[in-house]
Amino acid sequence: MRILSGVQSSGKLHLGNYFGAIEQFIALQDRGEAFYFIANLHALTTVRDGSRLRDLTSDVALDFLALGLDPSKATLFRQSDVPEVLELFWTLSALAPMGLLERAHSFKDKTARGLAPDLGLFSYPVLMAADILLYGSEIVPVGRDQVQHLEMTRDLATKFNLAFVPGWSAKDPEGVRSGIPGILRLPRALVQESAAVVPGLDGQKMSKSYGNAIGLFEDDKATRKRIMGITTDSTPLEAPKVRESTPVYALLKLFASADELTEIDRTFDEGGKGWGHYKQQLAELFFAKFGDARRRRIELARDAASVERVLVDGAARARAVAAPVMAEVRRATGIVVEHRR
Ligand code: ADP
Ligand code: TRP
Repeated sequence: MRILSGVQSSGKLHLGNYFGAIEQFIALQDRGEAFYFIANLHALTTVRDGSRLRDLTSDVALDFLALGLDPSKATLFRQSDVPEVLELFWTLSALAPMGLLERAHSFKDKTARGLAPDLGLFSYPVLMAADILLYGSEIVPVGRDQVQHLEMTRDLATKFNLAFVPGWSAKDPEGVRSGIPGILRLPRALVQESAAVVPGLDGQKMSKSYGNAIGLFEDDKATRKRIMGITTDSTPLEAPKVRESTPVYALLKLFASADELTEIDRTFDEGGKGWGHYKQQLAELFFAKFGDARRRRIELARDAASVERVLVDGAARARAVAAPVMAEVRRATGIVVEHRR
């Protein structure tokens, strides 16, 4: 089973990235052939500072390794180290209907939040489709916000196969009955339902770009300050608490054991504990869960050369998988690149 996913290096990783995506990445590295990459080309749609993008890219690599990604099991690489992805991106662009892209939630959300629309942001899902299809990915673990992008990826792969693989049928994409498999394999999203949308400090989806995130690797003081800053309502200490009136409850639920959650539920119903108490508890649970990873990250950061080696080695492994897929795509589309041989 080929598993693939990516995280943009557009900011510091946060709890939404962890519970929505990275926790699954790590669990899946034992279940199949896993490829995880740092989407620095995607990050270029929001980061306009070369040294910052470089730093953020190494930061994400460190974060992944500290959180338990094991390079002997999973392939970790930088998106831009496999330039074929940009070639496949263009090939898919030639097949991508404007209407499909105009319906993308991510584009609509980002422009609604005031990001000036440009072609990079608009074509973001096409590059994401290229990321996935280039490696023949079957399973793509992501948060719920990415599910539409996976549907678009399947749409684009279908269009490509219909156009360029004679006899291919969308009803039999692997060619089990017809003996004609597609050149591009149709992937599916895998969503961790318990953490499909992790809320940020303000109750909106936690995101690097919304300023509402709790980072995984900020220093202790800053982390406590973020947690204490979660929006709450003005329910007095002694009164019962409404679970939906603050993201504190949803966040506690991600960390708490079954017993701890029963106790939290009991005191929410009975009252007697203020929001400050629950935030304190959340901070303690946060440090207990991420303490080891936070210490490991400090160690790893001292050895930048070995992190770079992991990425370079990962890129070679990823490229070896991408090359035959891209060769088939070129052959089918008539884009011959003899001079490269
Ligand atoms: P961001 O929105 O912070 O820029 P990315 O878009 O790079 O994060 O997301 C990386 C992965 O983390 C994706 O699989 C995405 O679905 C997941 N993810 C991001 N934010 C959340 C969230 N608040 N809840 C659940 N999953 C999330
Ligand atoms: N768009 C994804 C996000 O914002 C990141 C990403 C880029 C990705 N390419 C991908 C995720 C390919 C899965 C597969 O979260």
